[in-house]
Amino acid sequence: ENENLEIVRSALKLCPNFPKKGITFIDIFGIFANAKAHRALIDIILNRLSNRNKTIDVVVGLEARGFVFGPQIALSLQVPFVPVRKRGKLPGKVAQIDYELEYGKDTMEIQLNTLQPKQRVLLVDDLLATGGTLGAAQKLCANLGCEVVETLVIIELIGFNGRAKLNNVEHFTTLFQFAEGDLEA
Ligand code: PRP
Ligand code: MG
Repeated sequence: ENENLEIVRSALKLCPNFPKKGITFIDIFGIFANAKAHRALIDIILNRLSNRNKTIDVVVGLEARGFVFGPQIALSLQVPFVPVRKRGKLPGKVAQIDYELEYGKDTMEIQLNTLQPKQRVLLVDDLLATGGTLGAAQKLCANLGCEVVETLVIIELIGFNGRAKLNNVEHFTTLFQFAEGDLEA
């Protein structure tokens, strides 16, 4: 696994002063631009999940970057992939939840009858910062009667203590942690 982690880590691009001065953006798309890194990422995730040894009935991915790798996990596990999107993007009846952003609020939605009560969910997104997004997505799944058995991100920014907003933190998987000092512009 260490070799795969190194391959993925070197495909992450750190972009100082983006989207504004003083902020360093971590660009995950370098992973997907490189088939070897892409394969390594999916293998690490599948390996971590198999070590957890849990039944997963469905993968729920968050817009936008949870859509980039969530489906490969679902396909490998041979379970459905279900999207959570920002307000107004999904047709039909939806369940909603409001969540806090750095500035202001937004709403995310999931289509009804994509998840069945008691299903065991793997929730995926690219990154945990304040935890507002994933914490709300966990609640959204719970509101539909599902059990989020694992929450997984590629990157955790540890300076924001996002874990405090997560439920069931012992079932949280992160591949890379970055501290503020790693991201100085
Ligand atoms: C980013 C990131 C996570 C979220 C993490 O998404 O992809 O989803 O922020 O932040 P938090 O832990 O502080 O809630 P963003 O809302 O920028 O949109 P995108 O994924 O659609 O680009
Ligand atoms: Mg996002």
